[in-house]
Amino acid sequence: MAELTKSGLLKWLRETQPSRLQELYQQADAVRKQHVGDAVHLRGLIELSSHCVRQCMYCGLRQGNRDLPRYRMTREEILGCARQAERLGYGTVVMQAGEDDLLTPEWIAEIVQWIKRETKLAVTLSLGERHHEELRLWRSAGADRYLLRFETSDENLFRVIHPCRVSGAPDRLTLLRQLKHLGYEAGGGVMVGIPGQSFASLAEDILTFHVLDLDMIGIGPYIAHAATPLGSGALRPAIAVSEQAPNSEEMVYKMIALTRIVCPDANIPSTTALATINKLDGRKLGLKAGANVVMPNLTPVKYRRLYEIYPAKACIDESAIDCNQCLRGQIHSLGRFAGQGPGGRGTSQASVSIPPGAHSQLVQLHA
Ligand code: 5AD
Ligand code: FES
Repeated sequence: MAELTKSGLLKWLRETQPSRLQELYQQADAVRKQHVGDAVHLRGLIELSSHCVRQCMYCGLRQGNRDLPRYRMTREEILGCARQAERLGYGTVVMQAGEDDLLTPEWIAEIVQWIKRETKLAVTLSLGERHHEELRLWRSAGADRYLLRFETSDENLFRVIHPCRVSGAPDRLTLLRQLKHLGYEAGGGVMVGIPGQSFASLAEDILTFHVLDLDMIGIGPYIAHAATPLGSGALRPAIAVSEQAPNSEEMVYKMIALTRIVCPDANIPSTTALATINKLDGRKLGLKAGANVVMPNLTPVKYRRLYEIYPAKACIDESAIDCNQCLRGQIHSLGRFAGQGPGGRGTSQASVSIPPGAHSQLVQLHA
C-alpha cells in the first residue's frame, strides 16, 4: 500500500506545523475509536526486581551502575500485588524486571501458575531476552503475553547501545517471532530520540511493527540517565545533527499516532516515560493521539524509587490506590471508560464496524 511507504512516514515525522499535527492526531484518534473503541485498558505493573546482568548504555538498571541499591520482591509480595490488581478492577498484571539470573524459570512459572489459578487476570511477562525453553515453560504455565521492546530497528545503533551477553543469541526481532509462535501475544516497541537515532530509522521502526504484526506496541521518549554512558555523554553515537530525532514529547505523539494508523488494532500504551516528561498531561495527550492502554504502577512504594530505569519517573511516591484513582479520573475526563476483563488484541467490539476504504483514506493524509 502506497500509504505505508517510508517516505510518507518520514514526512510526517519531520512535520512541525501545529495545525497539520493536530490533523494527524485527530486521524489517529478516529482510527483508534473505530478499531479498538473507547475502552482504555488498565495493566497493573509489578516491578519484580531491579537486579540486571546487562549493560545497556541508556538504562539506569545496568549492572555497571553501582550507586543503585537493588531489590528483589518476595513471592508473597508479588502475589499481594496481583490480589490488589483484582481488587482495583484491572484485567492484567505485567511482571517486569531487569535480566536477573536469580529469577529462576521455575520460580517465575510457579508464580504465573498461582496467579492464573487464583485470579482471572491475564499475565504479561517483561523479563528481557530469555532462552526459548524458559519462554516455553512460562507459556505452558499460563502466561498470556510477553513484552520485549526492540528499542530501535537500526542494527548498528542497537549493537552500540546493547553490549551482548551471549554471542550468537537470537536478536529481539527473532525472539518476538518466537514468542508469537509459542502462542503469546507479543509486544515490541522503541524509545524515541536515542542519541544516534535518525528520523529515517523511526520510520523503519513503524514499518517493523507492521511487518511483525505486533499485538502490543510501547513507545516512549528516551530520557537521559546521568549514571549511564549514553546519558552522561561518555558515549556519543555519530550522526548528522539534521538526522537526529529529538526525544521530545511531540516526537512521541507523532510516533504513537502514525503507529496507530499503520497498526490499527494493536494495543498501544500511553507510557510512564511520556508521563515523566509531561507530568500534567503526557498520559492524556498520548491517549488522544492513538493510545488505548495505561499501566498503573502496583509496585510497593518502598521499591518504586529503586526501579530507576530513568530519573524522575512519574508516580514514584504515589500508592497503587492513588494511581488507580488518578488514571480513572483522566480516562473519564476524556469521555472514555476503563476496559473490563483482560483486553487482549482483537477483543474489542469496535473492531467489527470499519467502513470499507476508511483506513486507506486516513493514511493517505500526507500524500
Ligand atoms: N529512557 C527511556 N526509556 C528507557 N527504558 C530503559 N531505559 C530508558 C531510558 N533511559 C525503557 C526501554 C525498556 C523499557 C523497560 O524501559 O525501552 O524496554
Ligand atoms: Fe500515578 Fe497519576 S498515574 S499518580
